[in-house]
Amino acid sequence: MNSSTTWPCAALLNASLSSRTTLKIGGEVEVLLEPTDPEELRLALVAAHEAGGPVRLLGGGANLLIEDGVLPGVVIATARMRRTFRLGDRWDGDPYVREGADAIEPDPESATGLVAWSGATLPGLVRTAYELGWTGLEGLVGVPGHLGGGVTMNAGGRWGELWDVIESVRVIDRSGAVHDRGRADCNPSYRNGNLGDHVVTGAVLRLEPASKPEIYERMKTYLAEKKAAQPVTESSSGCVFKNPDPELSEGRSAGLLVEQAGAKGLQRGGAIVSPLHGNFILNRGGATAKDVLDLIDDVVAMVADKTGISLEREVQIWRRAE
Ligand code: EPU
Repeated sequence: MNSSTTWPCAALLNASLSSRTTLKIGGEVEVLLEPTDPEELRLALVAAHEAGGPVRLLGGGANLLIEDGVLPGVVIATARMRRTFRLGDRWDGDPYVREGADAIEPDPESATGLVAWSGATLPGLVRTAYELGWTGLEGLVGVPGHLGGGVTMNAGGRWGELWDVIESVRVIDRSGAVHDRGRADCNPSYRNGNLGDHVVTGAVLRLEPASKPEIYERMKTYLAEKKAAQPVTESSSGCVFKNPDPELSEGRSAGLLVEQAGAKGLQRGGAIVSPLHGNFILNRGGATAKDVLDLIDDVVAMVADKTGISLEREVQIWRRAE
């Protein structure tokens, strides 16, 4: 990588990444860039590609396992791009460059649309929609991460997926050109926003007016069910595997397959397969990336041995050498 690059936004050298992931695992990256708005993100991407090494995007670090050691190249973090705006009926400018406060005042007269930049947190968006009395996002209650990662992987669960409420996304291609893409252009599917190597700078979310107490009740129910079934208070990367095609697995989820293979509670160093839900691997303290990778291999082998089903990873892995 060209070391004399002048970066277009805040840049940290040899930045530690573990605290930026929900698993709390990972080494350092040569350069960490922290743009504060969509245009800075675009400039950061162009500069990072010009510098020559690998370029990676980091949102909330919720579905990510980073190897230990020093990652070459650049990581661009969207943590400082948290803005969310209401898309009013009368707004005819470019919502992605709108200046204004993050605070959103309820206004029943305006259209029920939100514009969020890629670093807006999913929990923050769920809360904002509830406060405005707009339904559509409460199915994502308890899902960690940022909008950008959530759009890229179509985050969600039993009660809904992010793309259910997305009207359009704004993305940047490798050359730095900006495109707006509607839902039909992207054709998202289960855990896949289908954006290829395009980088999300933000999205327009379309919600519906609804009664706040009803939204609240749904959020409460979903969260209670989630807390009973998943180790939500422990360090994990969320579900490690995608649920297999129900025809292949006779309707069994990845978690159930892991349980039936006898892999719950299996441990490698500080990493353990959650005794509560088989599709979670927990960092019980001091786990290394290798502990988790070994555990993933063990689980895949045990499930394949028992059922013939080959589990596909949902969690993304950043390796030093790609
Ligand atoms: N089950 C077991 N044992 C286990 C785990 C699950 O018997 O160890 C059973 C459950 O009792 C249930 C069934 O398997 O009957 C499905 O489990 P669950 O309801 O927990 O849902 P899931 O399919 O495992 C999906 C998403 C989650 C999301 C939940 C709830 C995937 C891979 N996982 O889990 O998303 O939170 O639904 O909406 O699609 C994630 O993607 O990171 C994630 C956590």
